[in-house]
Amino acid sequence: MTERVALYPGSFDPLTNGHLDILSRARRLADKVVVAILENDVKTPLFSIAERLEMIREIVGDDPATPVLSFQGLLVDFARATGATLLVRGLRAVSDYEYELQMALMNRRLAPGVETVFLMAKEEYSYVSSRLVKEVARLGADVHGLVPDPVLRRLIGKF
Ligand code: PNS
Repeated sequence: MTERVALYPGSFDPLTNGHLDILSRARRLADKVVVAILENDVKTPLFSIAERLEMIREIVGDDPATPVLSFQGLLVDFARATGATLLVRGLRAVSDYEYELQMALMNRRLAPGVETVFLMAKEEYSYVSSRLVKEVARLGADVHGLVPDPVLRRLIGKF
C-alpha cells in the first residue's frame, strides 16, 4: 500500500502546545506528517527559520514519521514535492473558520487531489495562539504549560 503523507503547514512562530496536540492527532491519520514551516518574507518573525527548524526538531525528535522542513512559495507545490495528499490545519474557535475555509477552497482549486482536514486541539488549548504567547511572554508573563520546554527556554532567552 502507498504511504499516506500529510503536511502540517504553518508559521509556527513559535510552535505551541496546541500545535503539538494537532500534530499528534494528525499522526493517527497519516503514515508520515511533515511539519512544513512557511518561509515568509513579508512577516517579521520572532524566531528565524533556522531557530524554528531547530526547536521543532528538538521537540518532535529524530522521527522519520515527522520530518520538519521549511518551504517557500505555494503550499500545494510543496505538497506535490513531498507526495502529500492531506493538508492538516487546526481549528480553534468559529473565528478561525472563515480564513481556513478560504484557504482550503483555494488549495482545492489549485490541487484537486489534495484534501484539507481540520482537527480540533484539546479544549485547554483553544485560546492559545503563537501571537498571544509572544505578546504575554514579551510583557513578562509565565507561558509555562502553553509551549513545549524548548520553546519556553528560547522565549525566555529572547525577552
Ligand atoms: O500558521 P499560519 O500563519 O496560519 O499558516 C498559514 C499558511 C502557512 C498555512 C499559509 O499562509 C500558506 O499556506 N502559505 C503558503 C503560500 C500559499 O500557498 N498561499 C495560498 C494559500 S490558499
